[in-house]
Amino acid sequence: MNFFRKLFPSKNDRDVKKIRPVVAQINEIELGLQKLSADDLRAKTAAWKAELSQIEDKDELAAKLNEILPEAFAVVKNACRRLCGTDVMVRERPLRWEMVPFDVQLIGGYSLHTGHIAEMATGEGKTLVGTLPVYLNALTGRGVHVVTVNDYLAARDAEWMGSIYKFLGLTVGVILHDQPPRVRREQYYCDITYGTNSEFGFDYLRDNGMALRKEEQVQRGHYFAIVDEVDSILIDEARTPLIISGPAVHTFDEQYAQWKPTVDGLVRAQQQLCARFLKEAEELLKKLHPADGKPVQNTDELEKQIGLLLFRVKTGQPRSEALMKILEVPENAGMMNRAELELHKDQKKVDLYREKEELLFAMDEKSHEADLTEKGRNHISPQDPDAFVLPDLTTMLHDVDAGSEPDARKRLEMKAKLQADFEGKAQKIHAISQLLKAYSLYQLDVEYVVQDNKVIIVDQHTGRLMAGRRWSDGLHQAVEAKEGVAIEHETQTLATITIQNYFRLYQKLAGMTGTAETEASEFFDIYKLGVMTIPTNMPNIRKDSDDSVYKTRREKFNAVVREIKELHALGRPILVGTVSVETSEMLSRMLKKEGLIHSVLNAKYHQQEAEIVARAGQRGAITIATNMAGRGTDIKLGEGVAQVGGLHVLGTERHESRRIDRQLRGRCSRQGDPGSSHFFISLEDDLMRLFGSDRIVKLMERMGLEEGEELKHGLLNRSIQQAQKRVEGHNFQQRKRTLEYDDVMNKQREVIYGFRNEIINSDDVRDRLMDIIEEVVILKIEEFTAADAEPAEWRVRPLADWVNLNFPLGLPEGEILKAAADGKEEPVANSIYDGLSPAQFAVCNFISDSIRKAYDLKVSFEEPEKLATVERYTILQAIDKLWQEHLYEMDSLRHSIGLRAHGQRDPLLEYKAEAFKIFDELMVNVKTEICHNVFRSASSLMAFENFLRNAPQQTLHQNTSAFGGTSTGTGGGQSKASDVVSEAANAAEAAARAKPVRTGPKVGRNDPCPCASGKKYKNCCGK
Ligand SMILES: Nc1ncnc2c1ncn2[C@@H]1O[C@H](COP(=O)(O)OP(=O)(O)OP(=O)(O)O)[C@@H](O)[C@H]1O
Ligand SMILES: [Mg+2]
Repeated sequence: MNFFRKLFPSKNDRDVKKIRPVVAQINEIELGLQKLSADDLRAKTAAWKAELSQIEDKDELAAKLNEILPEAFAVVKNACRRLCGTDVMVRERPLRWEMVPFDVQLIGGYSLHTGHIAEMATGEGKTLVGTLPVYLNALTGRGVHVVTVNDYLAARDAEWMGSIYKFLGLTVGVILHDQPPRVRREQYYCDITYGTNSEFGFDYLRDNGMALRKEEQVQRGHYFAIVDEVDSILIDEARTPLIISGPAVHTFDEQYAQWKPTVDGLVRAQQQLCARFLKEAEELLKKLHPADGKPVQNTDELEKQIGLLLFRVKTGQPRSEALMKILEVPENAGMMNRAELELHKDQKKVDLYREKEELLFAMDEKSHEADLTEKGRNHISPQDPDAFVLPDLTTMLHDVDAGSEPDARKRLEMKAKLQADFEGKAQKIHAISQLLKAYSLYQLDVEYVVQDNKVIIVDQHTGRLMAGRRWSDGLHQAVEAKEGVAIEHETQTLATITIQNYFRLYQKLAGMTGTAETEASEFFDIYKLGVMTIPTNMPNIRKDSDDSVYKTRREKFNAVVREIKELHALGRPILVGTVSVETSEMLSRMLKKEGLIHSVLNAKYHQQEAEIVARAGQRGAITIATNMAGRGTDIKLGEGVAQVGGLHVLGTERHESRRIDRQLRGRCSRQGDPGSSHFFISLEDDLMRLFGSDRIVKLMERMGLEEGEELKHGLLNRSIQQAQKRVEGHNFQQRKRTLEYDDVMNKQREVIYGFRNEIINSDDVRDRLMDIIEEVVILKIEEFTAADAEPAEWRVRPLADWVNLNFPLGLPEGEILKAAADGKEEPVANSIYDGLSPAQFAVCNFISDSIRKAYDLKVSFEEPEKLATVERYTILQAIDKLWQEHLYEMDSLRHSIGLRAHGQRDPLLEYKAEAFKIFDELMVNVKTEICHNVFRSASSLMAFENFLRNAPQQTLHQNTSAFGGTSTGTGGGQSKASDVVSEAANAAEAAARAKPVRTGPKVGRNDPCPCASGKKYKNCCGK
């Protein structure tokens, strides 16, 4: 292998080689720097900062950075040298500084600066590598963000690496989850800011989607981010978007409790049905293998029947233990797989559907879908099975139009009723389907736990409890209904962004991790990030065994315990990786029985976790950890451990993704230490059950394994990797799809956030306000009048009504017509008035001028400062209210497109078209809403009343005015007015108070409220 590599160096090797001369240059410069005084070294920072701050142009700046790179890296290296032997306080403990970057670390730093993902193994010192490009890029003064996977690591690295930055005269900050905005702002204004991806993302959402004043915004742009553990953040975490939510306006929560008894019954009936199928299968199995050993006729037919019966049970009750037991025999699993394959062969899947119709409902474990069958519908609603079939809405609507009803209004009513029916049914079906999933695919203590009357999700990667996080789309409510705990209200999205789109905001992006290679194509596709594999400082001497495969989980875990015992006896430390908390605990019980002392890592606190993991290299230590736990913490070997073989990593299951396995494996043999790894697998593992190929089963059958016997073969490793690759590909496609949908939203978000920011940053909101009003006036004029029609034919009445409903003008129709008659002037070409006739143009000017005059009058009663605030609120509130409704609408659109996705049409294209339409409407609605509110908001009640008393009195003669009530007189008008103003004042106050309620793992009921009020969450925003 090495021989070939030397002969044919890979592209990566060549890329790395190109950096070597730069490394030589850095080292040479550093030699010279050793002679400088500390102050002279430090002075370089200030000089560069001054120089770089003069450069505006992006490319010029980049070129300059490249130019000073060797010297800047040398300065960091030299600072490290000077720090050696000193103690640095890290997380309240002194840590002796002993690091001067190795050459490979300089290479890593270079690759980060050039926007790559540096793949560097565990223990290669990526934390230090980051400081090189961080220092260089921070010299621009534009802010460099270093992104970590948890708060503990952010704080640790900011303090640890902060010693270099501070030594060199740069400022460093850290964003932690409980900081108030004022503190966050200070951290962002440092040259360098450490923090987790969710803190950065939530701050972005709050700044752009919720802040009402410039001073409330904490971030200052997105220049350069370096993401540590980049695969974990940009791939694993990227599966769920960041969401800030508040209580929902529309909910269907009651549906879940309502349908629970029905689904209870259905699930029980299905269990009985499946028990019957299993019994039949068992009887046929007896026929296939008669006790008397006589030869059997028609074995093919028998096998097929058995296979079909088993497949039926798998579809109806995927988590059935009795089924698992039967499938422990590889031959049986083979029959089932063959039957399934056969059913899928048919393009039209006629037989597959017929099989499913034998059940009450069918589950698809791979795609996570649940469907009621005809039988099931009859079971729950014998009188009216169609109550659970979605009608073909489009055809039905069409039929109404083509039908015999002559009255248009009646037709409209009929259509509205059809639509309401459709929605009602869709909700019902959705609730039942989610309940079925909750019952059949989500297991207590595996996918979730119940604590304090709450359903808490268990993270399938880390085994951590994700308190506060909720499954979307009603699934969480369905599980709550199943467990009989309180069903919590659905929340509504106030602001959201995917991790992908957040990180795409950065001008420059880079990342580091021990494991990126397997996901290289995703990094490139989504983030335009190339992966560069950096050689290790010392050669890696880890010994990786072939995987050991067992028939059953039981046999597998017995073997695991045996191996732990053997190696423990030699004094070797062992790190055992598991895929779930449940497995960790089971294994812990098994070890206890054997009298083996060990630690289990499912701590909630990252710091504790880090400390336990750090000790995992001590002589005789046994540490059980979920695969990702303790990531980023170094495992150093204890005394004498290297002599007995170093740390042994034992994997108890193959993960869906090869990357996670590599991560676990990489925990040992750091910096040239000895070490070894070994994975144990059983055919009952999810990966093997769901995605393992027939080939493995057949291989096992052929070898005729005995109880407890293991199979170990290079070929098997390949098959398992194939299975993993299949799942990886599947997951990638899914993430890509999600992203394609989010890209539509992303464009809209850019427009809305741009609009909001323009308002927040504007010194003269009033000007903008008047422009907006004028835009709407033009729209209304176009709506009610026509350029090519005589004013006499215009719909002047509705136009006047609209004006008077929104503005306290009391414009009589006659005046509008008079303005039209006097209009002679053509509007200027290419202005916003383009296309209006002289008459329309004149009306537009007349109305706009009247509004402006009325507004000037209003201004004269207000305090200027306060009014400016009110004006800004008026616009922002309109944007936020309608944008949030829009988010809800987009969600439903997404959902309904999913329901419609049967035909030939591409759902994504349809989604895009519809999304475009409703966004267009949104923009008009926002502006219209602003018009509606300008005169309804005031900085104080007095100002409002004074203004109304002086507003044009013509109001009295009109019968439509929101400001004077109906034509009753000023008295009535005033009482109404105070209602209006108190509403406006309330709204403004509420807006000022409105703070995000965030979902996310971290806010407990008793935690400090994220709005920084200083109160507990439950007494503040979490009420
Ligand atoms: N140049 C160096 N000289 C000596 N020790 C170093 C050097 N660089 C890093 N180290 C040490 O190596 C250990 C591992 O560093 P670090 O945690 O940054 O590794 P990592 O690559 O981030 O690993 P992981 O993949 O676990 O996150 C630390 O104890 C650190 O002090
Ligand atoms: Mg690290």
